[in-house]
Amino acid sequence: MARHLITSAIPYINGIKHLGNLVGSQLPADLYARYLRGRGHEVLFLCATDEHGTPAELAAAKAGKPVADYCAEMWQVQDDLGKRFGLSFDHFGRSSSDQNKRLTQHFAKVLDEAGLIREVSEKQMYSKADGRFLPDRYIEGTCPNCGFDSARGDQCDNCTKQLDPVDLIDPHSTISGSTDLEMRETKHLYLRQSAMKDQIAEWIDTREGWPVLTTSIARKWLNDGDGLQDRGITRDLDWGVPVQKGDAPWPGMEGKVFYVWFDAPIEYIACAQEWVDAGKGGDWERWWRTDKGAGDVTYTQFMGKDNVPFHTLSFPATILGSGEPWKLVDYIKSFNYLNYDGGQFSTSRGRGVFMDQALEILPSDVWRWWLLSHAPETSDAEFTWEAFQQDVNKDLADVLGNLVSRVTKFCRSKFGEEVPSGGAYGPEEQALIDRITTRVRTYEARMDGIEVRKAAAELRAIWVEGNEYLQHAAPWSTFKEDPETAAAQVRLALNLIRLYAVLSAPFLPDTSARLLAAMNTQDAAWPDDVPGALQALLAGHAFTVPDNLFAKITDDERADWAARFAGTRG
Ligand code: MF3
Ligand code: ZN
Repeated sequence: MARHLITSAIPYINGIKHLGNLVGSQLPADLYARYLRGRGHEVLFLCATDEHGTPAELAAAKAGKPVADYCAEMWQVQDDLGKRFGLSFDHFGRSSSDQNKRLTQHFAKVLDEAGLIREVSEKQMYSKADGRFLPDRYIEGTCPNCGFDSARGDQCDNCTKQLDPVDLIDPHSTISGSTDLEMRETKHLYLRQSAMKDQIAEWIDTREGWPVLTTSIARKWLNDGDGLQDRGITRDLDWGVPVQKGDAPWPGMEGKVFYVWFDAPIEYIACAQEWVDAGKGGDWERWWRTDKGAGDVTYTQFMGKDNVPFHTLSFPATILGSGEPWKLVDYIKSFNYLNYDGGQFSTSRGRGVFMDQALEILPSDVWRWWLLSHAPETSDAEFTWEAFQQDVNKDLADVLGNLVSRVTKFCRSKFGEEVPSGGAYGPEEQALIDRITTRVRTYEARMDGIEVRKAAAELRAIWVEGNEYLQHAAPWSTFKEDPETAAAQVRLALNLIRLYAVLSAPFLPDTSARLLAAMNTQDAAWPDDVPGALQALLAGHAFTVPDNLFAKITDDERADWAARFAGTRG
């Protein structure tokens, strides 16, 4: 039994996540966590909301709510949706927690003591009417390049040119609309990542077996241009972790907060403290401090590819720079993007299917199966309604659902609702058991390697083995001539259902629970011994026929949904 710490990139608080977000971090992280628990390992699986920064402030303003209230409400919404999708976090925390505030201020203090923070004076746009410095996104004006009249301070959305706020013609504050803006001197803290370049490069180079997607992005940032740049870690915002050196004020930094990307990954650690403070765990240090037992923890992070630089360079810079014995990540699993029907999923434009909408039309297991079996691992992937309908109808209804329904109903009609006795497994049964044994070992290897699509393909193949066996053995025909043999065939098939429930649990937790309930067993032990597992349900063991597991998606439904989700959400 090993100990595994698993974190999913913490989703921004501003709005409900779409299915592309879900499959890029939380869902595969959940798959892995469930698998490892199923195999008997000790797992701590953490996630949280990422609550600071301009996106949160802007979303709260749009919703007409104080930002703290907005975040509290959206945390609740995300927590609830996560549970309904079966995301089995041990704790779903908040980056705005006191624990994270204290820990972020602590890291700033020790980084400063290590000489890794420098103060920089720079000029920034100040709005007299608003009484504050304006972050780039809070300034709009006319693009000097294309003449577009609502270009943002950092970029023109029309011609995509990268801009500086000073480039804009007739700039104004998006908060008040005021044009009374001036450049003022302000001080910020920079983390001296450049001083840690060699240390970080060496750390990256010594990571063995990391996915190419992860290391290539890290190396690109390390080696491109001037290499690892010092990074501004403070902002002139109200909402965030106040800049302090631990408990002490930071002279000259009054009224400023840490940059959201500085405090967000620290929440991975703070979340473990929140987990303890919520009474769910006894000791967070044995997961996070290598001097307190975390040395034998395996730590795996899940994220979309846009998050990789922050997790391979910035957060390790914080951890390594502290000089303290914090646990570093052992493996980073990153994902490409899932696209939606010929374009991109987009939160700002409301394009695609969002978590709440998905659950309005279908149970979470159906989504989990399709998304995970199409996880964008080696390249971007695309969701289309046609593919979705075809794949889930085939895999879930025709293969898994059909097997369960045929076997249980046939048994009920001929032998009653208990595992039939008599007969014995013959060569065909033995051959099936051998094939399934081999495939279960392959499935484990795929899951251990977090090869999500390949794991899904192997699980599907395990289901198909059962269906093909049944097709061939045809107990409904055998029964007429040889009821004893038919009894043995059905006994094996009922045991297959229990085995499938156990193996499928990481992908299909609800379905797995329904199958185990129907098979009237709580034995969900991982099949280390597959032949043994296929004899777990003994003759005479009572079961019930479950309700239809998966309804097929009809052409009308598909057309309805495609039309309903063609536009953008209101
Ligand atoms: N909120 C970010 C996103 O959704 C992810 C933050 S991950 C963390 O892209 F490391 F900062 F925690
Ligand atoms: Zn432009």
